[in-house]
Amino acid sequence: MRPPAESVTSVADRLLAWYDRHARDLPWRTGPAEIARGEKPDPYRVWLSEIMLQQTTVAAVKDYFAKFTKKWPDVGALAAASEDDILKAWAGLGYYSRARNLKKCADAVMADHGGAFPESSEGLRTLPGVGDYTSAAIAAIAFGEPVAVVDGNVERVVSRLHCVDTPLPEAKKQIRKLTQAMTPAGRPGDFAQAMMDLGATLCTPKRPACLHCPLRDDCRALDAGDPERFPVKPPKKAKPVRRGAAYVLTNPVGAILLEKRGDSGLLAGMTQVPTTGWTARQDGATDTSEAPLPAADWIACGTVGHVFTHFELRLDVFRAEGDLTPEVRQWWSAPETIAGEALPTVMKKVLVLALDHESQHDLD
Ligand code: ADE
Repeated sequence: MRPPAESVTSVADRLLAWYDRHARDLPWRTGPAEIARGEKPDPYRVWLSEIMLQQTTVAAVKDYFAKFTKKWPDVGALAAASEDDILKAWAGLGYYSRARNLKKCADAVMADHGGAFPESSEGLRTLPGVGDYTSAAIAAIAFGEPVAVVDGNVERVVSRLHCVDTPLPEAKKQIRKLTQAMTPAGRPGDFAQAMMDLGATLCTPKRPACLHCPLRDDCRALDAGDPERFPVKPPKKAKPVRRGAAYVLTNPVGAILLEKRGDSGLLAGMTQVPTTGWTARQDGATDTSEAPLPAADWIACGTVGHVFTHFELRLDVFRAEGDLTPEVRQWWSAPETIAGEALPTVMKKVLVLALDHESQHDLD
């Protein structure tokens, strides 16, 4: 048996020494070398990246982060943008309430905080769309507050270090406490990001690279011989399936009929082709007789599937050619404007299937 895990300070020291050599070079990050040169993280970029990274991978976020910071280089510029333009730029990144809150938060920073983000986790927590995780991340990374920052990667690292047997989500409180106890007063932002990098690159869900881990001598799960067992998760519930149909109508000049979804609920404010309701019934509302628009000779194109947080959706896709006067909240979108529309991924799938061989519709 090896002695119990070493003192908390030395875990942070070992991790930070590893981070100084192996930190990922990420576009929103002020790396250890830049900080050593006296550069300071920009709270706007830290906030924007942390919102984008919620429930989304680093790889998926990179291009969106570049697009947003080019278009809107600071919080004032973002506040001056319309919600529609922000939703368009966000389209494809998912969890669209984040984009709506982005606008609300930028407005609040300008209106209530003189254009500067609050500097404490408590102050940040009052902003729209900024919860426990994001307020801690911004406070630690941008303002050096020694607060625990716990995302999925950190949960995995800490539950392994301490062999946390309680299943998630019940274990969250305990993991936060353990993380807080490890967080150093100096470089708390680097510590948080080092934990994330360790979780993303070495302490991975499957086949962790323990041989290369700077904390292998501190890891009780490794000691016990089965790091992959942590974090302990409750059994997965199968997601219910909902069904519906989507109708892609093309007019004589090649424009597609689009509409804006309602202002609340799933995919609020985003753009879609007309659809039936998405129901949990397996027996219908997917036929052409259910189409919410008059037309035409509908051609069945197949089915697209998309997994949302609480259900799986299967949409039967139909296309037709026709012309009509758009209703309120509807419009014809020409081939050259389609790519800039606020189409969520499920709708991009619908259009790709329907337009399959029509190469003039470049959706990406
Ligand atoms: N995931 C969430 N925030 C992150 C960050 N700052 N660095 C790397 N991965 C992250």
